[in-house]
Amino acid sequence: MAAVRRIAKVWKSEPTIEGAGVHLKRAFGFHELPQLDPFLLLDDFHNSEPRNFLPGFPWHPHRGIETITYLLEGQVDHADSLGNSGVIAPGDVQWMTAGGGIIHQEMPRPSPSGGNWGFQLWANLPRSHKLMDPRYRGLTRNDIPEATLDEGVKAKIICGAVGGVRGPVTDVVTDPEYLDVTVPAGASFNHAIKNGHTAFAYVVEGKGYFDPQRDPFAYQAIPPRWLEMTRDCQFGPETLVLYERQGEQIIVAAEHNPVRFLLVSGRPIGEPVAWYGPIVMNTQEELRQAFEDYQRGTFIKRGLKQTNA
Ligand code: FE2
Repeated sequence: MAAVRRIAKVWKSEPTIEGAGVHLKRAFGFHELPQLDPFLLLDDFHNSEPRNFLPGFPWHPHRGIETITYLLEGQVDHADSLGNSGVIAPGDVQWMTAGGGIIHQEMPRPSPSGGNWGFQLWANLPRSHKLMDPRYRGLTRNDIPEATLDEGVKAKIICGAVGGVRGPVTDVVTDPEYLDVTVPAGASFNHAIKNGHTAFAYVVEGKGYFDPQRDPFAYQAIPPRWLEMTRDCQFGPETLVLYERQGEQIIVAAEHNPVRFLLVSGRPIGEPVAWYGPIVMNTQEELRQAFEDYQRGTFIKRGLKQTNA
């Protein structure tokens, strides 16, 4: 039997403000480098007050990374320097490869009940691909297949494969997998993961056990508050579960409640990271170049003319 992955570390996402004033929760980012390699950042934007997200993310550049937006509620109006513009609706995914340079805006809009909810994941690109041509993939909910497994487990597959069903995003250099999995109460999800790939789960709703050990002292846990003295080994919403790199299988079990989570994995890059805001390169010199390009109006190598904010 394949070795089952153990949990390495667990923590909760933390409130922060980004863009022009969007309240969101950051599951990981700059301070967690390089534990999540090839992933750089995961933001959970979940708001019921339009004033907390309407300022949005006006025109800004990206270079050296991919940004992957998955929407659950409300919408995001977007436009970019490749000439794309449109609306990301619930269930849709925007998989944007900034490569050598893209300038875009992402403006969250409320659902009829006033809410907005989704996730933005940043995946790094290796040195060999940092300056690749930018690429935009807009996927609607109908493009994203859902596999139904034993015990009523369901997995939406953005990238990767489950139960013989393959997701629409392929040809990504870090060989990622991105799933949205729902496990009913009493059921469990067994999934093959490539040995050596970074893997994490982020809990969306409900509660579950993320490895079969069920030992709250078998991994590191960062308490959300230092007076938080419980050590439960069932995890609920806004929890990031980082797995150890060894092992070929992940087992998530739901006992009395169903659990819904994102499961993401990818091949670590293992290169130096030079990161400032929306630009992530290998060296400080490359960062300097990116900022000079942006100031001079030569940031975009392919696409429309640069329009600075
Ligand atoms: Fe962006």
